[in-house]
Amino acid sequence: MILVNENYSKLQSSYLFSEIARRVKAYQAAHPDQRVIRLGIGDVTQPLPPACIAALHKAVDEMADPATFRGYGPEQGYDFLREAIAAHDYRARSAAIEADEIFVSDGAKCDTGNIQEIFSQKLRIAVPDPVYPVYVDTNVMAGRTGKFRGGRYGKLTYLPCTAENGYVPDLPAEPADLIYLCFPNNPTGATATREQLARWVNYAREQKALILFDAAYEAFIRDPAIPHSIYEIEGARDVAIEFRSFSKTAGFTGTRCAFAVVPKSCVGYTRMGAAVPLHPLWNRRHTTKFNGVAYPIQRAAEAVYSPEGQQQIAAINDYYLGNARLIRETVASLGYQLTGGVNGPYIWVQTGKDSWKFFDRLLEKAQVVTTPGAGFGSCGKGYIRISAFNSRENVEEALARIRKVM
Ligand code: MLT
Repeated sequence: MILVNENYSKLQSSYLFSEIARRVKAYQAAHPDQRVIRLGIGDVTQPLPPACIAALHKAVDEMADPATFRGYGPEQGYDFLREAIAAHDYRARSAAIEADEIFVSDGAKCDTGNIQEIFSQKLRIAVPDPVYPVYVDTNVMAGRTGKFRGGRYGKLTYLPCTAENGYVPDLPAEPADLIYLCFPNNPTGATATREQLARWVNYAREQKALILFDAAYEAFIRDPAIPHSIYEIEGARDVAIEFRSFSKTAGFTGTRCAFAVVPKSCVGYTRMGAAVPLHPLWNRRHTTKFNGVAYPIQRAAEAVYSPEGQQQIAAINDYYLGNARLIRETVASLGYQLTGGVNGPYIWVQTGKDSWKFFDRLLEKAQVVTTPGAGFGSCGKGYIRISAFNSRENVEEALARIRKVM
């Protein structure tokens, strides 16, 4: 008899963004003449930067020539890209990360979802609330969370992120071994200061815990005082794995390229308390289950770090942040409390009403797609997330429609 993984029955009926897509599709089928504007899932709309396109074309031509053709590449990524990442994203910010500590992959969603495989079943896990659903759902699938009751999984520790704590979680009251943090935050857009991150790093060092730090939105930080990487904090190398993505940084959502940083000094422990470096574990997992990102895509990602690439991605991300400013101003002028949208592309709006009902109302009355806060956890009830990823014209049109409805 073929037995199934019964942990799947503990999951919510569908993945958040699939449920939103389903509702939007049903609405469109019923109203084919209405033009829906999407400010829901954080999918980019601007084309890839010209520097990346030029590198992509060149690499495609190399694949057409027997002298420069490439087959399987290194699973961890080509040295040219790992070196560029280490130099620009880390050493330039005084974060001591080496190229061979970087694992190039096809997405931060996949990496943050897969990383839990290298840890014990018995971990005590802490997640922010609201939370990017992938952190929770992948641990549900793995059987670490217990049942879902009253809006929460019994064995997870939830770290509330509320207006009272500025949407930056406090240290947990009960011990935690694995802690998920995301800054700039998805969904709230909140950022953490150096001091706040240092408190988490010290906690992890004292507790022999590990921080999984999702920095997928770091390219939107404009305040020079805000750290871009957890490794800018002293001692973080030993207790944190970081995830980054070219998706939001450089418009690679459809192109797929990201990376995880697993420092060689980062350790976990056996039941007997012996330290085990995590780098070889992740290397073993990665090389067994992943065959590398396509060569032309890695060349396009490398071009992000060229002087033109840097200037082009800054301009594109400033454009999205301009959208975010318009969204903030309009929604605030309508009397709603909000946060985010300054050093991140998401605006987190307090609606005071059931968030799915608010989502449905905006879809039906304004034909604007947002993301209901409840989909990110209990603390998201009464909120919606508005994404700044769209064209200026569409954002202006969406705001004009929202003004009439909100
Ligand atoms: C989001 O909208 O939260 C993100 O686009 C989801 C993702 O990156 O997987």
